[in-house]
This record gives sequence, structure tokens and C-alpha cells, in this order.
Amino acid sequence: MTKAAVRAHTNIALIKYWGKADETLFLPMNSSLSLTLDGLYTDTFVEISDTFTEDQFYLNDVLQSPEETAKISRFLDLFRNKAGITHFIQVKSINHVPTAAGLASSASAFAALAGAMNRATGLNMDLETLSTYARRGSGSATRSLFGGFVEWQKGTSSEDSMAVPVDDASWDIGMVIIAVNKSAKKISSRIGMKQTVETSPFYPAWVASAEEDLLAIKKAIKARDFEKVGQITEHSAMKMHGSMLGAETPIIYFEPDSIKAIHAVRALREQGILCYVTMDAGPNVKVLCRLSEAGKIKEMLREYFSEEQLLISGPGQGIRPLTAQEAAE
Ligand code: DP6
Repeated sequence: MTKAAVRAHTNIALIKYWGKADETLFLPMNSSLSLTLDGLYTDTFVEISDTFTEDQFYLNDVLQSPEETAKISRFLDLFRNKAGITHFIQVKSINHVPTAAGLASSASAFAALAGAMNRATGLNMDLETLSTYARRGSGSATRSLFGGFVEWQKGTSSEDSMAVPVDDASWDIGMVIIAVNKSAKKISSRIGMKQTVETSPFYPAWVASAEEDLLAIKKAIKARDFEKVGQITEHSAMKMHGSMLGAETPIIYFEPDSIKAIHAVRALREQGILCYVTMDAGPNVKVLCRLSEAGKIKEMLREYFSEEQLLISGPGQGIRPLTAQEAAE
């Protein structure tokens, strides 16, 4: 096959990945665990042909610059080398993310591209092995190959730092995403984590506690103990941001509206609605909740945020090829 089209959903980490042990191979300092979301995804089409004279990369129908394309070419090389081919490749990616949300994600992007290349080259690696390739595009992409709750085991080498499915999340769980600010982040996660590893005195404590939290959350997921899953999730995010505050110079992703969202969620909890916040390398706040209560929580958050800032998502599936009809749309 020389053409393929694959869909990948984004994921939000409950136990965060923050820090690399190897920047070239994207080996993480700690294992992480995420929930794949159905509401946000990327569709990627690849075509391998000897008629192309260079790699081409289109994002949302716009041809990207040579610099952006070079990043994709380096990723494509991993597959070209493995498959023993030298052809140029055309990549077309469409991000299906509500425009106001500003949540376009490298996780779904590299997971979809890895999935499409796996099919187009005929390599047909299993998903765990393929996740070690997705990882080389962006660490968080490792986890987007699978649906539900997914663990990225840090491993000991490029071959065993991979994702494994933990639970399909076919129970009452979801997220309300609060798009606090849709503009591009000021400090990328790549730069932010490097600065934290190199300068924060709190960083070793982060790594130690992430490993403990991972064991505890896996136990809670197995028991379907939503309250425990939520408590560990919120605590993990705050500890990650705490490690960043200790960096030199401090890294602060919180904006006034992020803090407002955190307090609003606390107030909801005081009213007996179980919901918990998590935040990544940006000001947006994601609220982990019972999917059956997401509508009610969204309505309550409308007191502080506009309709277009609030998005509900349930758990999502792993990567899959697009149907002929989807590919034609
Ligand atoms: C805070 O995967 O974007 O979202 O590996 O450098 O591409 P690179 O970083 P990226 O970092 C994600 C960091 C995070 C936590 C997480 O998703 O686990």
C-alpha cells in the first residue's frame, strides 16, 4: 500500500510526563498515564510516490514552511529507514479541534502520522511497537495509539519505552475542557521540561512522586474508584506545576482565568459534585468528571466562562484507518 489515512485522538495525562532522560530518543524521566478523548482528533493522509521530488506537509489544507516540513521529514525517516525505502512522501493532516479551543495537539498529530506510515509502508507493526515510533515525534503521542486509559512505560531503551493499554474507560468518566486562552503557548513543553529538569531543586521529588502516583492510580482505575482517580490526577498536575515554579527562571503557565477555573471546580466539589482539575503546559484547565455529570458541570461553569470556551468529551478510541467515506469528506 502506498496510501493510507488514519485517525488518532488526543489524550490528556492524569499522571504527567515531564522531563526527558534522552532528548534525541524522547525517553522520559518518569512513566505517565493518560485518558484518550473522543472529542479532539487528527486525520492524517500519507502518500508515498516516486513522482514526488520532495516531502510535502499540508496542515489544515495549508502547505507548511520548509522548517515545519523538515521536522516531519525527520520523523518520516524513521519509517523510511525501517522499510528500506527512499521515496518522498506527501502528508496531509486535518486537526478536528473546535477552533475556539486552541487545543491542537502534537499527541494526536504524531500518533495519526505514525499510524498512517505504518500502513502505507506495509510495516504493519503492532501498536506497542508503533508507539515507540510515535514517541519520537512527541512524547505524549506515544499514548494516543490506544483508547481509554493508557500507560507510557518509561522503559530502559528506545525499544521498550512504549505505551500499553490499561483500561478501556467504558465507565462513567469524561472531561470538561475549559479553553482559558487559545493563543499559542509562550514556553513549549519541550523547553519548559528541559528547564525544569536542569534547574528546579524540586525536580527529583517530582520524579519520585510520579512513580508512586502511577501505581496508586492504576489501582484506583482497576477498582473504578472515580474519587481516588480524580484526587491523584489533580495532585499530580499541581506537583508538576510546583516543580516548574522551582525552575530558574520560574515557569508559570497559570493565568488569572486558570486560577478562577480551579477555584470554581473546588466550589463544585464543596457542593458534592466530584470533579478534579488537571493542566498541561498552558493555561487551559481540564476537568475530570463523571461523564453523566459533565453537562451539569458545564452549565455551572457558564457563570464564569462562555459557551465556546467549554467543551465536553468522553473517552476516545485508539488509532484506526479512516473509512473510504470519511477519507473522501
Ligand atoms: C505537560 O509531548 O508535548 O502535556 O515530547 O517534547 O513533544 P515533547 O513534549 P509533549 O509534552 C507533554 C507534556 C504535558 C504532560 C503530558 O502530556 O504527559
